Amino acid sequence: MNRDIMTKQIMIRGLTEADLDAVADIEAVSFAHPLRHVDLVVLHARPAFRGFVLSPDGGMPASYALFLKAGDMADLVSTGTAATARRRGFASRLLGESLHRLAVDKVTEVTLEVAVDNVAALALYAELGFGEVARRRNYYRRPHGRVDALVLQWRPAWQGSA
Ligand SMILES: CC(C)(COP(=O)(O)OP(=O)(O)OC[C@H]1O[C@@H](n2cnc3c(N)ncnc32)[C@H](O)[C@@H]1OP(=O)(O)O)[C@@H](O)C(=O)NCCC(=O)NCCS
Repeated sequence: MNRDIMTKQIMIRGLTEADLDAVADIEAVSFAHPLRHVDLVVLHARPAFRGFVLSPDGGMPASYALFLKAGDMADLVSTGTAATARRRGFASRLLGESLHRLAVDKVTEVTLEVAVDNVAALALYAELGFGEVARRRNYYRRPHGRVDALVLQWRPAWQGSA
């Protein structure tokens, strides 16, 4: 089903191979250990891959979300917004729509890992309804030492309702 959304010049659509350069650029400025273009090509080729992008003007992606789906479960592999486009609600809109599409695709559980010091991402995921299910001690390396990761999960709101 093609459910591309375009409102007020904002487009949310499935990620294509043509988006991988832009995603690699955002990864490079967002993470200490970013996914490189070559990693993204391999990820994109996997049958389990589900990727979504948001383009403010219908062109280059400003925000992306990369998932791997296995049965009725999916993992958020990575997500980011271009540094110049942050705090405009892009990640919130993109992830909200991505979760909706995954739920329509029969996903009942989405899991991710986030560093406990990633204030922006923690607030974003809380807003989207993710809840903590586990903590991995000393999971991420930092210049000053290590920090824990939280494992967060999201389920569609209608799951379990009669
Ligand atoms: C986390 C990230 C994806 C958020 O993207 P974004 O497009 O700026 O997020 P949004 O504008 O949709 O923000 C949605 C909500 O997230 C929270 N948030 C986003 N940035 C925040 C910040 N810098 N500080 C505190 N809360 C923040 C807020 O609750 C915000 O809602 P509000 O603006 O109404 O207060 C972006 O900061 C980023 O790319 N970071 C680097 C990569 C990364 O950490 N990815 C997640 C790895 S787990």
